[in-house]
Amino acid sequence: MTKKTVYITRKIPQEGIDILKGEFEVIVNPEDRPLSRDEFLKNIKGKDGVLSQLTDRIDEEVFRSAPEVKGFANYAVGYDNIDVKAAIKYRVPVSNTPDVLTTATAEMAWALMFAVSRRVVESDTVMRNGEWEGWAPTQFIGTEITGKTLGIIGAGRIGTAMALKSRGFEMNLLYSARKNNYILETEVGAKKVSFEYLLENSDFISIHTPLNSETRHMFCMDEFKRMKKTAYIINTSRGPVINEEDLVHALEAGIIAGAAIDVYEKEPVAHPGLSGLKNVVMTPHTGSATETARKGMAVKAALNLAAMVKGERAPDCIIPEIYDNNP
Ligand code: GLV
Ligand code: GLV
Repeated sequence: MTKKTVYITRKIPQEGIDILKGEFEVIVNPEDRPLSRDEFLKNIKGKDGVLSQLTDRIDEEVFRSAPEVKGFANYAVGYDNIDVKAAIKYRVPVSNTPDVLTTATAEMAWALMFAVSRRVVESDTVMRNGEWEGWAPTQFIGTEITGKTLGIIGAGRIGTAMALKSRGFEMNLLYSARKNNYILETEVGAKKVSFEYLLENSDFISIHTPLNSETRHMFCMDEFKRMKKTAYIINTSRGPVINEEDLVHALEAGIIAGAAIDVYEKEPVAHPGLSGLKNVVMTPHTGSATETARKGMAVKAALNLAAMVKGERAPDCIIPEIYDNNP
């Protein structure tokens, strides 16, 4: 029997590739860059399975033009790049990579929170430029985190992990989510509050919600105006949850104190207004960029893809209902 072929749209850690090589013919995009739409459509044709990136859009056109593909393993936990309705319509399973990147992303939110509140990047620039003129009592004054109120938007795996790490900082925890989170309430005394209450009472707001029609532009000027003038916003989820244009205006006008963001509305481009602002810290969508998380994602995506190609149930299928009923 000829081996089935799987396609990996961009280089991932070798651990994942090795798992797939054990069972399939594996083709990896030889260039370490995202595929253009045309290349993506062309390269996945006739393959039995595809390991995709969050930069690959998987929609009706994809399912229609590559009917041989038995499953898409998305190398990410977020899957707003996937048209789930279309996947259900064409009955093609799609998986994501939960859990393995929870710690990495939660830690990144903390790294950003400290970086913006203690002006780490701004200070680093002054040092590198040789502009420091010596210690001064009123230089680079920042804000302490200990004892402050942290508001978590979206209390799923990553939001919960981020909030639990506040323990050493004796923070008051608020969260806004659809469901009650028992762990947060019992472990760190978090209170479930309305979105509006969270906006008005948090000193730091950390966003951990998936991107969907309800969360797109959840933060616009009205929301920034409801926040404390001294508050900071941290976003390690998806860029479009924040209206970036409004964020620039809010930061310029001092409506909020600062922002630290890892994700952008139109990646890889950040709003040009952001780069001139000192009260913003920016990282290039590296929330899950640790050795442990990226290896874990590679292994997870590979195991899911192998299952889908063999017609088995993928452990992290985002639409498990497609296994349940046969129309
Ligand atoms: C990264 O953004 C992910 O969703 O895994
Ligand atoms: C600052 O360096 C201090 O010791 O207070």
